Amino acid sequence: MPSPSKRIAAIPPYLFAEISRIKREKLQQGVDVIDLGIGDPDQPTPQPIVEALQRAAEDTKTHSYDESARGWPPFLKAAASWYAREYGVELDPDTHFVQVIGSKEGLAHLAWAYLDAGDAALVPNPGYPVYGIQTAMAGGEAIPMPLKQENGFLPRLEDISTDAARRAKLMFVCYPSNPTGAVASRSFFEEAVRFCKEYDILLVSDMAYANVTFDGYRSPSALQVEGALEHVIEFHSLSKPFNMTGWRIGFACGSPEAVATLGKFKDNLDSKQFPAVAEAAAFALLHGDNQATLDLYKARRDALVDSLAEAGWSVPRPQATFYIWAPVPTGETSTGFAKRLLEDAGVLVIPGVGYGSEGEGFVRMSLTVRGDHGGERLREAARRIGEVALAKA
Ligand SMILES: Cc1ncc(COP(=O)(O)O)c(C=O)c1O
Repeated sequence: MPSPSKRIAAIPPYLFAEISRIKREKLQQGVDVIDLGIGDPDQPTPQPIVEALQRAAEDTKTHSYDESARGWPPFLKAAASWYAREYGVELDPDTHFVQVIGSKEGLAHLAWAYLDAGDAALVPNPGYPVYGIQTAMAGGEAIPMPLKQENGFLPRLEDISTDAARRAKLMFVCYPSNPTGAVASRSFFEEAVRFCKEYDILLVSDMAYANVTFDGYRSPSALQVEGALEHVIEFHSLSKPFNMTGWRIGFACGSPEAVATLGKFKDNLDSKQFPAVAEAAAFALLHGDNQATLDLYKARRDALVDSLAEAGWSVPRPQATFYIWAPVPTGETSTGFAKRLLEDAGVLVIPGVGYGSEGEGFVRMSLTVRGDHGGERLREAARRIGEVALAKA
């Protein structure tokens, strides 16, 4: 058997293997594990979107390759109109967009489309692992931007060395943020665009959670910044706002050069998606309503935050995303604490160090808990955490 490529061997080991092993063991023992680990909407895709797919699948024009330049035209048109509605920015469906097979695919291949051996990308630490791993697989160097609690989990651009800024071709940012749940203001995006213009960097803004927001909060976008278009590519996903993770569809928009570069890469790699999925995704962008799911996440967020506070652990109440990023209250490592929660309380949380060294000292808890109808599983998780894991610390 030939050995796998060096780039595959360079992928770091799966950090959550030990946690997964304990979870399997607990389930075999019949323990009722409450899994706060998975960042995948537990609610079904809204029925009208499913029906749009059924209609589109009956239409034989969706049964062939999508031979368009950058994506199924009705989908890109819907994306442009959604974008104008959400952000007040008019973009051209033909030149400012490219359809992606979920934003993960697009983000990963953007790294490949831009980075040669020896090139660099600035990546958040902690951050969604795809940015750093794909940068490394493409032969590039991932230069970490530490996200500290005292800075609202935003990178301090003034701390980036001139050498790093000169070498970097890409800067990845993600707000609303996985894993920290932090949000960025319009002025952060202004500063980031200014920085990227100065050093000729493409700002890659991952907005997978842009519409998972609460309490009237709406996330700003980098493309709202005056003159940003040439220096920004944004990734949007249908996955989280419309409970469509399995459908694998999203889009990138922004710099015509960047979307064309990603489009060229993809032309030589994939043949787009089942057009019926794109057709239903267009329907979701034009008519989708996920308020019921957002209301459910909000009820769960409040249930978890309030009941953890009662149990003696004060954690932040995020304005966006379905993640709670909480400082470990016991002085243990994030992995040690997560293992103990699982062993003693049957509650699975993700150790922050899995998202980068700066994630040490934190754990991530997801609100997408299967079988929870209004926060009762989360209240039960908090009760168990308070009883066993905090009491013993
Ligand atoms: C920050 C972030 N970006 C992108 C993605 C990828 O989402 P998708 O490929 O389903 O669009 C995820 C998924 O968890 C994520 O957390």
